[in-house]
Amino acid sequence: MKILITGGAGYIGSHTLVEVIKAGHQAVVVDSLVNGHTEAVERVSKLTGSDIHLAVGDIRDKSFLESIFTEFAPEAVIHFAGLKAVGESVENPMAYYDVNVNGSRVLLEVMQSQNCHRIVFSSSATVYGEPQYLPYDENHPVAPINPYGRTKLMVEQMLGDWSAADPERSAISLRYFNPVGAHPSGLIGEDPRGRPNNLMPFIAQVAVGTSSELQIFGGDYDTRDGTGERDYLHVVDLAKAHVLSLNALADQEGHDVINIGTGHGVTVKEMVKAFEIACAHSINTRTVARRAGDLPCFFANSERAQARLGWAAKLSLTDMCRDTWTWQSQNPSGYKAREY
Ligand code: NAD
Ligand code: UD1
Repeated sequence: MKILITGGAGYIGSHTLVEVIKAGHQAVVVDSLVNGHTEAVERVSKLTGSDIHLAVGDIRDKSFLESIFTEFAPEAVIHFAGLKAVGESVENPMAYYDVNVNGSRVLLEVMQSQNCHRIVFSSSATVYGEPQYLPYDENHPVAPINPYGRTKLMVEQMLGDWSAADPERSAISLRYFNPVGAHPSGLIGEDPRGRPNNLMPFIAQVAVGTSSELQIFGGDYDTRDGTGERDYLHVVDLAKAHVLSLNALADQEGHDVINIGTGHGVTVKEMVKAFEIACAHSINTRTVARRAGDLPCFFANSERAQARLGWAAKLSLTDMCRDTWTWQSQNPSGYKAREY
C-alpha cells in the first residue's frame, strides 16, 4: 500500500517508517521539521535500503498537502504530526489548537477531496485524565486535564464524525501509554530539542554526561517505592501496532480507539535501576517536589489491542534501556554531528 506519514521525521514516526517499509509498503513523509530531523529520514533510508521522499511542509498548508496527495496518491495516512509538550500547551494553548486540531482538520479535508479513506492517528493515554479505576480500558471516561490532552480528544471526536459520514472511511486512534527506547541499530532514537520533559530521555542524558543529575519528581506517592509509576513500552513495539492498524482498517467501518501499552507499571526508581544495568554505571539522582499535574500511577488494559490488532508488547524493560543506551551513547548529541 502507499502510505503517507505526517510527522515521519519525528521520534515515533521515524521508527514507524522503518516497520511500514519492512512490511512491504511504500511511504512518503510530510514534516515541517519543527521538531523532526531530515537526518532521521535519511538514516531510515539507510536502514531499510529504500529511498524515502521527505516533503518538508506544514499540515495546515492545504495546497501543499493537496500537491503531495495528487503526486503520491496515498491509500492511507498515519498521522503523527503535532505538538506534544504538556507544559507548553498550558502556556500557549492556541498553538496546540491550531497545529493539532486545525492541522488534523485540514488533513481530513484533503483526504476527503482526494478519496483517501483510511487513517491511523497518534492519540494518548492522557485523554483519560484522573483514573477512576486502573488499568484504564477504552471504556474509561475521558476527561483530559490539560490543553494538549483536550486537543487529542477533539481530534478523536473529529475522526468519529469524519468516518461516520461515509461508509468507506475508517479511522483508528491509538492511545499510546509511555513510548521509550530506540531502534536496536542505534541509528534512530529520540532527540528532544532543549531540556527533555520526559523521564527516559532525561535519564539517558544523565547517563551520557550531558546532564548532571536526574530530579525524581516526588518520592511520597502511594506506589511500591513512593515514585511515579507508568506503563513504558518499546517504540519498536509501538511502531508495529501502526502496521497492524493499517491492516485492520481494511475491514473496519467508522472510528475505533485502542490502548497501546504493556499493562504493567514501572516506577521511576525501577527505571533508573534498569538503566544503570544497561549503561553499567550509576545514575545521579535527587528526589525533589512532585511535578504539578502528575498522576501517581497509570497503566493500560491492552486486551483490545490483542483482540482487534493481534498486537501485544514483546520487548522488555531491559530491551528499552539497552536500545536507548545504544542510541544515546552512539549519538551523544542526537542527530547533530558528534561534539565530543
Ligand atoms: P515528535 O515531536 O518527535 O514528532 C512529531 C513530528 O511532527 C515532528 O517531526 C514535527 O516536526 C512534526 N510536526 C509538528 N507540527 C507539524 C506541522 N504543523 N506540520 C507538519 N509536521 C509537523 O513527537 P513524537 O514523540 O514522535 O510523537 C508523535 C505523535 O505521537 C504526536 O502526535 C504526539 O502527540 C503523539 N504521542 C506521543 C507520545 C510520546 O510520549 N512521545 C505519547 C502519546 C502520544
Ligand atoms: C507526560 C505527559 C503526558 C504524555 C506523556 C508521554 C505531563 C504532565 N504529562 O506524562 O501527557 O502523554 O508524558 O509523552 O507532562 N519524572 C521524573 N523526573 C523527570 C521526568 C519525569 O521523576 O525528569 C517522572 C514523572 O514524575 C513521572 C514519570 O517520571 O512519574 C514519567 O514522566 P514522563 O516521562 O514525563 O511521562 P508522564 O508523566 O506519563
